Amino acid sequence: MVDNTSVIVLFGPPGAGKGTQAEILARRLNLLHISTGDLLRDELARGTELGKLAKSYMESGELVPDEVVARMVAAKLSKNRGAVLDGFPRTVNQAEILQTLLAERNVGVTAVVEMQVADETVVRRLSSRYICSVCQTPYNLTTNPPKVEGVCDRCGGRLYQREDDRPETVMRRLRVYREQTEPVVEYYRRKGVLVSVEAEGPVEEVTEKILSVLSDPL
Ligand code: AP5
Repeated sequence: MVDNTSVIVLFGPPGAGKGTQAEILARRLNLLHISTGDLLRDELARGTELGKLAKSYMESGELVPDEVVARMVAAKLSKNRGAVLDGFPRTVNQAEILQTLLAERNVGVTAVVEMQVADETVVRRLSSRYICSVCQTPYNLTTNPPKVEGVCDRCGGRLYQREDDRPETVMRRLRVYREQTEPVVEYYRRKGVLVSVEAEGPVEEVTEKILSVLSDPL
């Protein structure tokens, strides 16, 4: 059973819908939404040293060094409110760092939701994704277009296409996912906190499936 002190990791390949679902779950469960991708894009947009360091990794679809993302997550975790983690951890080393960070707060990972989607779905979703440059809300020109072309429904910000959503970079991100990130599934399976959800259907259906697996005792 989850509550507003739980720590839920949404796990899956690029385009699985982690950001979309994390936003909804954080709102419904009153949890923080911590997205390492959004935090890094914010650093990039502000031209900080960290953003400059992350730029080449992100644009080529490679992972930013573990210590860098771990520092950002550590700064966002709260002592008295749980979180939905979106895009972190992405290596076994990051999973171990997370365990240490949570142990300092006397908690552990409540559940890791593995979102399963086919590679064809990933490529289709990412080629039509647009993001708000202000509030980071994701849109999809096919399944979830904005009311006014190029403008965010929520805050009026300008929508843009991510540099790393070009087809060749998406293929690289999928390779990186298989090689460096997928081993994290086994790590959490052994810890007994892994649940899997088929994430191909409409957004609302996927949300209900996630809430349903989270309400079952692990
Ligand atoms: P990040 O931003 O985390 O990218 P990602 O994990 O590759 O995930 P995406 O944002 O592409 O997809 P998503 O699963 O969130 O799907 P979304 O909901 O947006 O990371 C970017 C880069 O930053 C990395 O490559 C790396 O360089 C670096 N980085 C980040 N974290 C790091 C870490 N921990 N360590 C090291 N480096 C790190 O949905 C995608 C599209 O599909 C949207 O258009 C959406 O509207 C649509 N959609 C969603 N759900 C559905 C549905 N059910 N049906 C139809 N359409 C849907």
